[in-house]
Amino acid sequence: MKKYILAIDQGTTSSRAILFDKMGKKVEVAQKEFTQYFPENGWVEHDANEIWQSVQSVLADVFIQSDAKPAEVAAIGITNQRETTVIWDRKTGLPIYHALVWQSRQSAEICEKLISDGYEEFFHEKTGLVIDPYFSATKIRWILDCIEGAQERAEAGELCFGTIDTWLAWRLSAGEIFATDVTNASRTMLYNISEGSWDKEILELLNIPEIMLPEVKGNSEIYGYTKSFHFFGERVPVANLIGDQQAALVGHFAFDEGMVKNTYGTGSFLVMNTGEKPHFSEHKLLTTVAYQLSGKVTYALEGSIFIAGSVVQWLRDGLGIIRKSSETEQMAKLAQSHEDIYFVPAFTGLGAPYWDSEVRGAIFGLTRGTSKNEIAKAALQAICYQVKDVLDTMVVDTQIDIPRLVVDGGATKNDYLMQFQADILQTSIIRPFDAEATAWGTAMLAGLAVGFWEDWSVLRELHQKEMIVFEPKMEAGEQEQRYQNWQKAVEASRIFKV
Ligand code: G3P
Repeated sequence: MKKYILAIDQGTTSSRAILFDKMGKKVEVAQKEFTQYFPENGWVEHDANEIWQSVQSVLADVFIQSDAKPAEVAAIGITNQRETTVIWDRKTGLPIYHALVWQSRQSAEICEKLISDGYEEFFHEKTGLVIDPYFSATKIRWILDCIEGAQERAEAGELCFGTIDTWLAWRLSAGEIFATDVTNASRTMLYNISEGSWDKEILELLNIPEIMLPEVKGNSEIYGYTKSFHFFGERVPVANLIGDQQAALVGHFAFDEGMVKNTYGTGSFLVMNTGEKPHFSEHKLLTTVAYQLSGKVTYALEGSIFIAGSVVQWLRDGLGIIRKSSETEQMAKLAQSHEDIYFVPAFTGLGAPYWDSEVRGAIFGLTRGTSKNEIAKAALQAICYQVKDVLDTMVVDTQIDIPRLVVDGGATKNDYLMQFQADILQTSIIRPFDAEATAWGTAMLAGLAVGFWEDWSVLRELHQKEMIVFEPKMEAGEQEQRYQNWQKAVEASRIFKV
């Protein structure tokens, strides 16, 4: 008897496995962090094998910790940190280099050259993206350039490229599945979002052999099966791959045009459903694929913020002023209100709407009285200011008012962050009671593909209705003043370049 859908949520700092039952209830969760490598200024890398091991470990843990059995899993859905680039040997399965993480900037020079050669419009029209090291295309180019003989091996069909969804599906199926989904493809800067295929002109321009690219599929269909050896002796269908931000959009049931969600993960990602036609931004927001169901593509507009939850992680691992992320809530409340600190966490440049890969982080307004509490408070506020930068841009770009913002992600547990977000946006923030939108999104799509759930109406019934609403409380004058100060801080940090 099939009782569960298994969601794998492979994020930037940890891998998670979540089991959902037929009622949509989260039965068990397992989570494991893995190593972040920072080999040079602005570079962020992962060991793709360590990611795979962390996934194997959490898969085992969900079964060890619960009464569930692998044979009771009806389907697996995989949702993932997007853009992160792995290149591996088709025969041995060994990566030829560390995975270049979406935040990583080592391909900045390749991007600058493309921009100075006048290719911005070319890429925007085809892919909906801006030229930036964030996306996979120039990361692939960088790895092929950096590893001796890699270009030739790629041309000979010996190498595979994949984002993490592809890498995990390939691993789980022992090489039988070599595919990605349309949402992940739309983040590579190689995929033509209007034509729905890898773009030959882009591949030629970047000299990337098509043979190394995975097949692109929709979001609710059987991709293939786990090799029993890699899934506790069971052959289970892998029935959904989807980028984590798009999964969260689905998880919130944001199927109507104009609906927006924001996820506070390592970064923060605002995504608006824009319906059946792509909306091409005039303000450097990204046009991307939201999902593809029964062959029909729905598009989205996205503002990507590179540093959100990871600024808190930096307070813990870099600065060492906290032991747990949750401490920041109390620290922000204890901070002295006359200490007005602005923290621009541009550790790996700034994403939307600035797209400045050279700027680095800065803290403004320090005095002799500044303590770790004020720094922690400024870090949380910085997340909220960046969200306002993007949300305001989205409103201007689409002319659609956004009166409420539905949120999810680890940092939404922090009530101070949520209240300050409502204050600075002067918008209601809706936090579902159990903010597990990403995993729920992939689970629903996988479950539908194998008939575990009949249709969306069944799922709508199960959809969680309990939520907490944060209403703005700050006076408009104070809010405006603070936001202006933030903008000054961003401008000042952009002037300072080494
Ligand atoms: O585009 C990068 C994004 O998908 C990463 O998400 O949740 O790992 O911060 P997260």
